[in-house]
Amino acid sequence: MSAPNKSYDPVEVEALKPEEIERMRDEALAAFAAAGGLDALHEAKVAHTGPTSPLSLANREIGALPPQAKAEAGKRVGMARGAVNKALAARQAELEAERDARVLVEEAVDVTLPHDRLPAGARHPLTTLCERIEDVFVAMGYEVAEGPEVETEWFNFDALNFGPDHPARAMQDTFFVQGKAAADSGSAAGSAESGVVLRTHTSPVQVRAMLDREPPVYVVCPGRVYRTDELDATHTPVFTQVELLAIDEGLTMADLKGTIEHMVRSLFGEGLTTRLRPNYFPFTEPSAELDMQCYVCRGESAGNPDRPCRTCSSEGWIELGGCGMVNPRVLIAAGIDPEKYSGFAFGFGIERLLMFRHNVEDMRDMVEGDVRFTRPFGMEI
Ligand code: DAH
Repeated sequence: MSAPNKSYDPVEVEALKPEEIERMRDEALAAFAAAGGLDALHEAKVAHTGPTSPLSLANREIGALPPQAKAEAGKRVGMARGAVNKALAARQAELEAERDARVLVEEAVDVTLPHDRLPAGARHPLTTLCERIEDVFVAMGYEVAEGPEVETEWFNFDALNFGPDHPARAMQDTFFVQGKAAADSGSAAGSAESGVVLRTHTSPVQVRAMLDREPPVYVVCPGRVYRTDELDATHTPVFTQVELLAIDEGLTMADLKGTIEHMVRSLFGEGLTTRLRPNYFPFTEPSAELDMQCYVCRGESAGNPDRPCRTCSSEGWIELGGCGMVNPRVLIAAGIDPEKYSGFAFGFGIERLLMFRHNVEDMRDMVEGDVRFTRPFGMEI
């Protein structure tokens, strides 16, 4: 800043001449008008109103003027600065309005667009069928019980009265995780008098359920089981079984049959009968295969060449699974007095059930995880 000036010197105050002030003002107004955006306007603001802008510098010169010139120059500079600030504010408001209008267009959300571009998945039909079966039994007072998929040979075979040489133990049927010898030396207590297998059926859960509870026992035991089968249209090495076990006083085969008939009614509707065919299982005595009347031809295709049925291969019957009265030896292995209690058991695979209930022709579709297979079964929860 110039030092106070006693004598009026027109050269020294060149910057305060009216034409100069007007020029500064006009340059500022032109710069604001030319600013195409808020950033450019900010630069113009710094250049024309900041502390080193020509008008600010001119303002400082006023102090150096002789008193008689101060008022005049002050008024000129003040009016110019006022006009500049006003133009700045107007342009600022204009550019902000432009920006807001642009943002509204560019960032607009079209609320009418379909909102869900990712198709929702569907639960696997085996899961929903399994839960449906559980519901049937839970409604009758059964409890859902589960057991491990990696199981000891004792639970999977011995406790279920499989003899030591039973063919099902052979390597070609059972996935062994640990052979008997390895298991014996593996644990300090040598507790595993038994190898470790991937369970080949859900029947070991029967034994676990009986050991865990006091009778009466009513459990439904769903779960995955493993056998050394090749994966093809009708076999899979991993499949799902549902096991049923009821232990109480005075239970008979009639209770078993009535219970399964109720399940068939719940899953397939009224009017289908069931039949028992004698069979052998080590853990039940007597044992049977349980068939239900074919729900498509309702038994009419049997012996009737004019009415073939693909679902039951014109047998009129569909095999559901194995069943029987729990062998007293199994009750004893599970700590239950066979003199007092009797029980029935039933076990069936639900992949086959799903196949004939929904016309699934290839079992591989159930394990490959392709959503195109799963989706048509719907969003049942
Ligand atoms: N566990 C047998 C299997 O996988 C099926 C079975 C048969 C289960 C008879 C039972 C039963 O509960 O009583 O082949």
